[in-house]
Amino acid sequence: IHRRDFVVTWSMVARVPLFADLDAHEIATVMQCLRSRSCIPGEVIVRKGDEAHSMYLIASGDVEVVLPGEHVRLGPGDFFGEIAILRRRRRSATVKASTHCRLLVLDADDLHELLEANPSIAAHLHKVAQSRGGR
Ligand code: CMP
Repeated sequence: IHRRDFVVTWSMVARVPLFADLDAHEIATVMQCLRSRSCIPGEVIVRKGDEAHSMYLIASGDVEVVLPGEHVRLGPGDFFGEIAILRRRRRSATVKASTHCRLLVLDADDLHELLEANPSIAAHLHKVAQSRGGR
């Protein structure tokens, strides 16, 4: 295990609002797909224009989405990196860690499978992506 990885626990996954409607069996399935990643303050997690392979759920800490004229702060329970995966595009913005944070990483293939199996999660993710400007 990499020095900066940590163990993804059941409670971390169960606490993610996006997964609130999943039953125990489904949470166990999602848990098997999630990897962990720790970041230090200032670390760039995704960079605008890069190819995208995963989306991220924030288990703890805060990140900052760098947008023209503003920085949007996201925290525990929030997610990011969904726009490029859903739209099969490059990253629409750079996202940096503001504090030490722990992220749950979901790869594109697993995300697409999850969305096929859970239309309500898909609807929610599309709605958030749209509200963030990822049409
Ligand atoms: P993605 O384009 O994959 O990578 C950058 C991410 O920043 C993007 O997905 C969203 O998750 C996030 N993002 C982009 N625009 C906004 C916004 N206006 N508010 C919050 N998050 C955003």
